[in-house]
Amino acid sequence: MSEVYRDPSLSASERTIDLLSRMTIEEKVGQMCQLDLSHDPKIWIKERNIGSYLNVKWKDTQVLQKMALETRLGIPLIFGVDAVHGHCFHDGATVFPSQLAMSCSWNPELLEEVARITAREVIHTGFHWTFAPILCIGRDPRWGRISETFGEDPFLIGNLASAMVRGYQGKSLSDPESILACPKHFVAYGETIGGRDSAEAEVSRRKLRSIFLPPFKAVVDTGCDSIMAGYHSIDGTPCSANSWLLKDLLKKEWGFKGFVLTDWANINWLHEMQYIAPTLADAAEIALLAGNDMMMSTPEFYNIIIKMIKEGHIDEKVIDDACSRILNVKFRLGLFEQKGLLTSDSKVIGCLKHKKKALEAALQSLVLLKNDNDLLPLKENIGKIAVLGPNADNSIAQLGDWSFGKVLNWPPQDSDIVDGHKDNTVTILDGIKKRVKDPSSILYVKGCDVLNPEDQDIQKAVQAAMEANVAIVVVGDSYSLNGERKDRASLDLTGAQHKLLDSIKRTETPLIVVLINGKPLTIPWIAENADAILEAWNPGNEGGNAVAAVLFGDFNPSGKLTISFPRHIGQLPVYYNQMPGWHGGKYVDMDAEPLFPFGYGLSYTSFQYSNLRCSTTELQKHEVLTVSIDIKNTGNHEGTEIVQLYVNDKYSSVTTPIKELKGFSSVNLHPGEEKCVNLVLPISSLSLINSEGVECVEPGEFEILVGGSSRDNDLLKKSIFVH
Ligand code: BGC
Repeated sequence: MSEVYRDPSLSASERTIDLLSRMTIEEKVGQMCQLDLSHDPKIWIKERNIGSYLNVKWKDTQVLQKMALETRLGIPLIFGVDAVHGHCFHDGATVFPSQLAMSCSWNPELLEEVARITAREVIHTGFHWTFAPILCIGRDPRWGRISETFGEDPFLIGNLASAMVRGYQGKSLSDPESILACPKHFVAYGETIGGRDSAEAEVSRRKLRSIFLPPFKAVVDTGCDSIMAGYHSIDGTPCSANSWLLKDLLKKEWGFKGFVLTDWANINWLHEMQYIAPTLADAAEIALLAGNDMMMSTPEFYNIIIKMIKEGHIDEKVIDDACSRILNVKFRLGLFEQKGLLTSDSKVIGCLKHKKKALEAALQSLVLLKNDNDLLPLKENIGKIAVLGPNADNSIAQLGDWSFGKVLNWPPQDSDIVDGHKDNTVTILDGIKKRVKDPSSILYVKGCDVLNPEDQDIQKAVQAAMEANVAIVVVGDSYSLNGERKDRASLDLTGAQHKLLDSIKRTETPLIVVLINGKPLTIPWIAENADAILEAWNPGNEGGNAVAAVLFGDFNPSGKLTISFPRHIGQLPVYYNQMPGWHGGKYVDMDAEPLFPFGYGLSYTSFQYSNLRCSTTELQKHEVLTVSIDIKNTGNHEGTEIVQLYVNDKYSSVTTPIKELKGFSSVNLHPGEEKCVNLVLPISSLSLINSEGVECVEPGEFEILVGGSSRDNDLLKKSIFVH
């Protein structure tokens, strides 16, 4: 081992400098390319020293890595995969609830553990890097990718995403079970106009700094070492072409030391879809100079850039910087010490311990939206139960987006999917059957299809409901109504689902609706007519066990919505942190209030908030405030309450949201028990970006609002004054 770069006792920087000095231009540019296996590895590894492959089959990681290690310098590949809510492309892996679902737990520790487990499963299949977490702010539910988000609040997103980065990356990247996280899509990708995937986002730099950048700043401060740029453009500049964003802000101002990855074929889109580059070569040059370091799925980049450097058109220093960033991460990850090269078959994938965490995650993700007359939890002696609806026994809808690898047809239909998780997934029907003493008391009828209105069997469902003492109808959306390029112009229930619900309602059998859906749907009819509603989102492998546990009261639901439900699509946007100033404050034909607001969620018990107090009411900008509140369990069940702290900057030089989440905590209480919850609020977190683009805390009055949801009626208020 004579070469310096192979010496693990040296620092990653020393090793990087040495390795870079030995590399040809071709080898450097090769490291900056990432492709899938439709590109021949014999050419791309042996001749071009490609830096990374993505989304390959796990056995291929081993073959390809060995090939890479045999090249002149033996630089290992870094394998990336979309392990977004578990290592879901891998059959039999643990599928956790979607990010949106898990965000409703408001539990960073849980998310960290989920990411830790995902990292274990990922590394044990030879991959080193996940393209997650997703930090897009989900403010327009028409957008296809809402299920991937942590909802609509920047503060909560920053908290949960940082927890996941800690979980994926562990204490040190070099730990045997740590993988590299790749927060995405930088930045404001969820804000594209009309909910249209990858379209233009109309966001000023001030709004970027106020709302969209803070979650990314949080993960950079946590220590993430790669970031994926978004497809879309902001104010005319595609993110992959935005040197202010990638270089001036991310790398210089924030001091980000990792590397930037483009999204899929994003260089090509600059030329072919966004038309900011007349040729692909122009696009490649723009992307490189803007600060992208690794290019996903643009094979042409390789020849184009080598030629430009050799002709002196681009300075070699540009690729030296990009390549060094990539190599540095490879060294720190331990790839040169053979990380991810598997020696034996692993018992880690989908193991019992991981399943238990998936159950815990699913339980904490569920949100009880309605429970009239305490219909839930169900009594043990309830007797016959009709379990109805297209999502009652539907593992594909239940697992949601990014669970089934690459789907070849476009747009994908549910029928295109090969369900490699079916045997490991407990559907809602399975879970209920397992939970009741006598499975023959369950009368199951699908009733209708999510998509096809012709495919229905509603009469049989009505029959079952009439024979039963309660009807649990599981409706929602499907895999093919969520994801990239799958934006919706309507959020109403599809197929004959509404007809099914209406028919069951007419039987007068008590109606419980369980929702399996990737995003908020417009369900005012359900809100009015169902006796109980349980929002389950895409609850993962263990979703059926979790839903059954909540329905029967083995677990008291504690999830709170992280995204508001509109009553009607025309009401959008309905996110809670709106700007003030709307004349009239409502539509003439509809209230402004969402159907269910951010932060809302019921429990089988009730909580009383009292005695809101602040450690002091007069503060300087550098000080920290402690906000305290007493919370009492006034019902009959033990329960957990998620306590939320919002702030309203009363008067400021620029408009600021009517309220903004600045803290949260959860408290577990036995019936009759009362506890004091303390929330810490650094005054620096009350800053705004003024019209000059400067971040500052402006003196004056701030309202502190604490309670169990973002709704005014659920919040107690106190004022503080900052000097
Ligand atoms: C998506 C990314 C994803 C990548 C690789 C893109 O189309 O926007 O989120 O990581 O594909 O699969």
